This record gives sequence, structure tokens and C-alpha cells, in this order.
Amino acid sequence: MRPMHHIISTKEYTREMLDEILDLAEKLEPIAGKKIKSEIMDGKILALLFFEPSTRTRMSFEAAMLRLGGKTLNMGSVEASSIAKGETLSDTIRVISQYADAVILRHPREGAALMASECSSIPVINGGDGAGHHPTQTLLDLYTIRRESRLDNLSIALVGDLKYGRTIHSLCYALSRYNAKINLVSPPELRLPDRIVEDLRMRDIDVNITNNIEDVIEDIDVLYMTRIQRERFPDPAEFNSISDSLRVTCDLIQNAKPNLKIMHPLPRVNEIAPELDATPHAAYFKQAFYGVPVRMAILCKVLGMEDKI
Ligand code: CP
Repeated sequence: MRPMHHIISTKEYTREMLDEILDLAEKLEPIAGKKIKSEIMDGKILALLFFEPSTRTRMSFEAAMLRLGGKTLNMGSVEASSIAKGETLSDTIRVISQYADAVILRHPREGAALMASECSSIPVINGGDGAGHHPTQTLLDLYTIRRESRLDNLSIALVGDLKYGRTIHSLCYALSRYNAKINLVSPPELRLPDRIVEDLRMRDIDVNITNNIEDVIEDIDVLYMTRIQRERFPDPAEFNSISDSLRVTCDLIQNAKPNLKIMHPLPRVNEIAPELDATPHAAYFKQAFYGVPVRMAILCKVLGMEDKI
């Protein structure tokens, strides 16, 4: 297997590279599921640098490292660090490179992870950079689809804020490696950026754009919901009408395929009715669990440990 130094974006990943990580995650799943113990990361330290809130990305990386026998070093809140005194991201990364073996970075600025990788002597993993990319989320999304549905020739609907949703941007590129049919469901003001639609069409991907989930619900294998961000709408009435129209309920999926899976990177607000949680369609909490084996696999790749598994 080839070493992967930094994980910044999955845009250029080949199918072979994606499958390597998914295969590794499958091997690691019993450790994530507490069935087997491991010490393969004994002596290794992962630094956690989060400039934005996070529950899943931060804690699943931490769980992954701890269950593999490694340790974590958390910078804590920005206010409690020297960033509050004006220290730059590049200086912070240079210093942390001397304390840890790899770093996971979440930052509000698009391109921050790439910039950090250019001044880091240890692997940088992008945990989300503004409206840019969220590659580790994409890898766990692919893993969830592989485990709960099928990756090849999948028909998927991506729903919600497709304009600013970094999760969606990363996922589109990765799905193009599996010949997926991609249905883009959003209000016109939150459409996927044209440059990404063009990239997908250049890759011969069948892209269908609509405003309504009803238009596609009968055809899809996976319904991938995302949160619409209230703060982007100056008029609350407009937000309410859009968020209600992009909500999945038991009624909405009556004509769906019996094995339809509903996914969501979480956190959700009201995009998915809670009565769906107990149905076999709900895959979003399993998706959050799959973050642990996938992030274990990513850590093994960047730290060159995959041959020890
Ligand atoms: N899906 C995701 O990135 O969740 P967090 O913001 O909680 O990390």
C-alpha cells in the first residue's frame, strides 16, 4: 500500500485509493466495536486542533486513536490557546508538529488545511475547512453506503445546502469514482456550485437537479440529508418554507424502495422526522459509528501502520 502523508481532499483520489481505506476500515471495525483490543498506536500522539465546534469528527478521531492504544493532545478552545494572543495558524502548526505525530484540523477558512500541510512536518488531516472539503466525512459516508447499501451504480439524492455544504462537495467527487447517479435536491439559492456540476459531468456522471425530494424518491437507493443553515436567510419566512419542503417524513418515503437508506452527517435540526429513527431506513446513527473504524484506517494510513493490522 502507498503511504498517504496528508489528507486534505478526496477530489483527486482514485477508486483504488478510496477502496484501500474502506478495506482497511472493514478490518478495523471489530476494534472500533470493542470486540478486539489493539495497541498498534502505542507511543503515537494525535493532536486535535478545532477552531470550530465539533462533536463527531473530534470525538470519533479521539476514540479511534485511544482504541488503537495511542494518545491524543487537545489544544482545547481557541480562547484558551495562544491563538487568542494573535499567534498564526502556521506558527501553531509548526509548534504542534514537535509535540505530536499527526494533527487533525478543523478551521472556518477554506484552504486552511492545505496551508497547514505546507508548513507541517507531520501529517495534517483536514477535519473540515470552511465551505471547502471534509474528506474524512466522505470516507465514512462511502463506508456507510458500502456497508448498508451498495456503492456501484448507486442512485443517491443529496439534499439541502449544496452550495456551502463541504460534506456534499467532497462526497460528489468520491461518488463519481463509483459511477453513481447523483440527484441534487435544493432550493435554487443553495444549488451545488456550477464548477462542481461541470466537473461531475466531465467525469460522465449522470447529474439531475431538482427542488423537490418527491421528484426522485421512488428511484433512489440513498437519501443523503444535510442541514439548511438558518443564518443564510435574511427572511425567516423564506427559511421556514424551504426547510419544511426539504424535510423527510414517513409519508414522504411511502413510495420509496423498501431498502432505501437515509443518511445525514449530523447534527440534524428538523430535516429528518424523529419517527424515522426506529425504521430500517435510518442509517445516520450507524454512519456516526462508522466514523470510528474509518478514522482508524486514516490514522493507520498517515502513520504508516497499515501493515501491522
Ligand atoms: N459530521 C460532522 O462533521 O459532525 P461534527 O460537526 O459534530 O464534527
